[in-house]
Amino acid sequence: MTPSAPVPLPVRTPPLAEPSGWHRVALTVNGERITAEVESRLLLSDFLRDRLGLTGTHVGCEHGVCGACTVLLDDEPARTCLTLAVQCDGVAIRTVESLAPDDAPLTPVQRAFHECHGMQCGFCTPGFVMTATALTELPERPGTEDVADALSGHLCRCTGYRNIRRAVCQALDERFGE
Ligand code: FES
Ligand code: FES
Repeated sequence: MTPSAPVPLPVRTPPLAEPSGWHRVALTVNGERITAEVESRLLLSDFLRDRLGLTGTHVGCEHGVCGACTVLLDDEPARTCLTLAVQCDGVAIRTVESLAPDDAPLTPVQRAFHECHGMQCGFCTPGFVMTATALTELPERPGTEDVADALSGHLCRCTGYRNIRRAVCQALDERFGE
C-alpha cells in the first residue's frame, strides 16, 4: 500500500489588532505643543526619553509594576511603559521636567521630598513625585487610604517608604492645611 502524502498542519497567524504603521499625533508636552510621526507600537516612555530627550521619566520594570515611569496625562497619573504614544493624540502630558524648570523654586512636593529625605538613589523618585503632585492638585484633600492607594502603585528599593509617606503628607499639609 502506498503511504499517503503527509497532511500539512495548518499554520495559524494571529491577526494584528490593527495594521502597523505611522501616525501623526498632536499633543502638549510640559506646556509645549508638538506634532510628531509615531510608529504604532512606540511606547510613550520611549517617545519621551528617546525622541524628546526627557530622560527624567525613568523606566524600571517595563511592565506596569514599579511606577517609576509615571507621568501625568491630562492631570492623571499614568504609566508610560503601558501607554502607546499614538494613544496620546490630543493629550496634555506633564513629566517631572515640568516641575521647577530652570531656576524656578522647587514645588511643594519636590521640597517635601528633599526636606523629608524621601529619596536615596532617586530612581523611583520621578514617579512618586508625579503621583504626589496629582494628589496635591485634587480639589479636596485625599484621605489616608486614598494616599496609601495611590502610593501603593510605586516601588522603592531604598527608602523603606516611611520618608516618602512623610514627604507626601507634608506636601498635602502645605496645600490643604493640617
Ligand atoms: S517601568 Fe513602567 S511601571 Fe515600571
Ligand atoms: S530611592 Fe532608590 S529606588 Fe527609591
